[in-house]
Amino acid sequence: MEMIIVEDYEQLSQRASDLIVEQVRMNPESVLGLATGGTPLGIYRELIKANREGEIDFSDVSTLNLDEYIGLAPSHPQSYRQFMKRELFDAINISEARTHIPDGRAENLEEECRRYEALIEAIGPPDLQLLGIGENGHIGFNEPGSDKEGETHIVELTESTRSANARFFASEEEVPSHAITMGIRSILKSQRILLLASGEKKAGAIKRLLQGGEDVNFPASALWSHPHVTLVMDKAAYGMK
Ligand code: GLP
Repeated sequence: MEMIIVEDYEQLSQRASDLIVEQVRMNPESVLGLATGGTPLGIYRELIKANREGEIDFSDVSTLNLDEYIGLAPSHPQSYRQFMKRELFDAINISEARTHIPDGRAENLEEECRRYEALIEAIGPPDLQLLGIGENGHIGFNEPGSDKEGETHIVELTESTRSANARFFASEEEVPSHAITMGIRSILKSQRILLLASGEKKAGAIKRLLQGGEDVNFPASALWSHPHVTLVMDKAAYGMK
């Protein structure tokens, strides 16, 4: 695992955005694996700027998002579809048809998981996958105990994840109880993974990750078996003052 330690969130956003720009310049038809949560927001802002300035062209790029809540209307502001539209897609030159997110309102959710996994195979896997890390080590919505061989599937969110995500909703009760997520195996199919961590809240998870060793109760540790992971973190996430 390659490690890049930067000063703060701003530098993290800049550095990760530069790596994405480089990827798309190298291959304009890149497939990007995208993530939600607070961490990628700064990266998306940088990418929008780079797109406006003509440094990156998204017209031939395809995207695959990691996960989506189950049950939220696609128009709900906290559905990951709306999040991505608001924070990135509507502000860059990508057509909606090239952006893929699991459908958390599908009538047959099991079928939707199979459709999404087949899509990952058909257009992907991602050349570059952006990944945040939960305080409990979750990646995507793969909670502690997740099967390393898991593909896209339905998960019940843990208390820890629901309360961490409650900040985006009016109350914790409003946070959906279930989600569809790419599995650990689906995530590990990517050519390259960019794992991001910012702030002291993530210091515990990063410390545990860097202890090494795979542990089913700490999903991010599965990344040790991937040949090309770049961990970009700020000093606070690394536990430095
Ligand atoms: C969420 C998302 C993850 C994200 C993680 C960390 O629950 N499903 O994909 O990486 O939690 O979020 P944040 O970046 O806001 O800390």
